[in-house]
Amino acid sequence: MTAQLNPRGDVAVLVPAAGAGVRLGPGAPKALRLLGGEPLLVHAVRRIAAAPSVHTIVVAAPAAEVDAVRRLLAPVAPVVVVPGGAERQASVAAAPGRRATGGPDIVLVHDAARALTPPELIESVAGAVRAGHHAVIPVLPVVDTIKEVGAGEVVLGTVDRSALRAVQTPQGFRRSVLTAAHAAAGDSLTDDAGLVEKQGVPVFCVPGSEYALKVTRPFDLALAEHLLAVGH
Ligand code: C5P
Repeated sequence: MTAQLNPRGDVAVLVPAAGAGVRLGPGAPKALRLLGGEPLLVHAVRRIAAAPSVHTIVVAAPAAEVDAVRRLLAPVAPVVVVPGGAERQASVAAAPGRRATGGPDIVLVHDAARALTPPELIESVAGAVRAGHHAVIPVLPVVDTIKEVGAGEVVLGTVDRSALRAVQTPQGFRRSVLTAAHAAAGDSLTDDAGLVEKQGVPVFCVPGSEYALKVTRPFDLALAEHLLAVGH
């Protein structure tokens, strides 16, 4: 089954949402933790569905929660829910939207944990793929000074910050590029563009968004609660 949002859309969004969320402390799987009374995943899917280019959304849910996630998302948007894997990379590989023939040719991979990502960022990444870039990532400048630290917490050196970027999702790809990168993947990486880089495909950066922060630790959840309360 392929759930359609905008039939004229040309983008499939894969949402890995099967993580445990250990760094948030004890509780439900991360994508199901509440933000303003609703699960992070609901916020994320609502914003993805609001992006006009999106044709299909595939969510990789915790294996034990697939039916619950289907029920949860049914009133939010038409979504395909599949069981995720033990690692993020396996969850992305589990999503059939990536393999389906005849599906959209632009595929975005977007973490459920980036629950407040504006639809405009989804459009911006998709637009850069549409414009001809085979792999696209949203990035922010690094604001802190970064040190490399060795044994005994002794500083080894200072990294040139001007060349560094913090990487967010959604990450966008031509379908064939993402499929080839996952097929060739050996080591598990935390981002899909990393797999594509290893294939020698140039990865293009577009400006990210502060609102696409990843809810990882309790502080992030508090910040996201505030952003939601003030209208984001
Ligand atoms: O753990 P981390 O914050 O890097 O997870 C990023 C995203 O990947 C989250 O949305 C999480 O639910 C998802 N994930 C997954 N399957 C896993 C581990 C993480 O879908 N096994």
